[in-house]
Amino acid sequence: MSVSTKTSIAGVELDSYVCNASGPKCTAYSELAELGKSDSSAIIMKTCTIQPREGNPKPRLARIGEHGLVQSMGLPNLGYKKYVEFSTKLKKYGKPIVASVAGFSLNEYITLVEAFQKSDVDLIEVNVGCPNIEGKPQVGYDFGQMRDLLSLTCGLGKKPLGLKLPPYFDPAHWDAMADLILDYRVSFVSCINSLGNTLTIDPWTRKTIIKPKKGLAGLSGETIKPISLANVRAFCERLGGKVSIFAVGGGVSGVDAFEFLLAGADALQVGTAFEINGADCFTYINKGLITMLKYHGFSSIEEAKGKLEYLQ
Ligand code: SIN
Repeated sequence: MSVSTKTSIAGVELDSYVCNASGPKCTAYSELAELGKSDSSAIIMKTCTIQPREGNPKPRLARIGEHGLVQSMGLPNLGYKKYVEFSTKLKKYGKPIVASVAGFSLNEYITLVEAFQKSDVDLIEVNVGCPNIEGKPQVGYDFGQMRDLLSLTCGLGKKPLGLKLPPYFDPAHWDAMADLILDYRVSFVSCINSLGNTLTIDPWTRKTIIKPKKGLAGLSGETIKPISLANVRAFCERLGGKVSIFAVGGGVSGVDAFEFLLAGADALQVGTAFEINGADCFTYINKGLITMLKYHGFSSIEEAKGKLEYLQ
């Protein structure tokens, strides 16, 4: 049986279900070019800000367990103008290019979205879930501010605009965010950013493992998969197929990819496994997904999408 993992997000076609997530290894042009040559089905660039940023003091990233990371990078990036330039240079790889943006004010979000609307990117992901900026609460947890942000950025151009959301833990929050997404016709969501403000301690030195924010950092990788799955499913149920869903958070294998597909995700972004294992992850996760699809008798992403069953 021939099986395809071709898919699409907001009408933009992806050659496979698996691509990178915005993260540390997609900041410099050389890293983005590596993604261009890899089996990642898109090139998602590091979240950028108006000004270039060094990010938070080190140590700011550490492995935990076999498949986990804590990080408080603090959005180190080259400034949005560079990523606008990169989007043109990256076209030669023939795959969709995704901008990721974070403003420190509503006006900054407008400037960023306007700039990428005029660029060569295919999708614009507005990051409202970065937990790592000292003194800056995550916009995605402030539904009033989210309404302002969406009312100011959604009509700025024709390229599909999406939201990278923080994890939510309560159905009332899924309801509120889904209403906003539908009201403003957001084209896609990426669920979820890292689980913010977690603490890891070295019991031998009695110190925090991460330096910024008194050791508080975003948790990602395998441990957060049940939270990502729940968020993907919650938005799949509430958005009724009108908005595409990128799963992100804890997808490290083909089996994970299949679970996100059953939960209703249109595609999977891989962050931690890419950070730890490099670009081979896109190849082996996609191959593993094909094996799972074959095992269950599905020949395409569309056939299996959202087919999660509940215990009776
Ligand atoms: C960071 O640079 O701190 C991570 C970006 C994010 O979590 O959105």
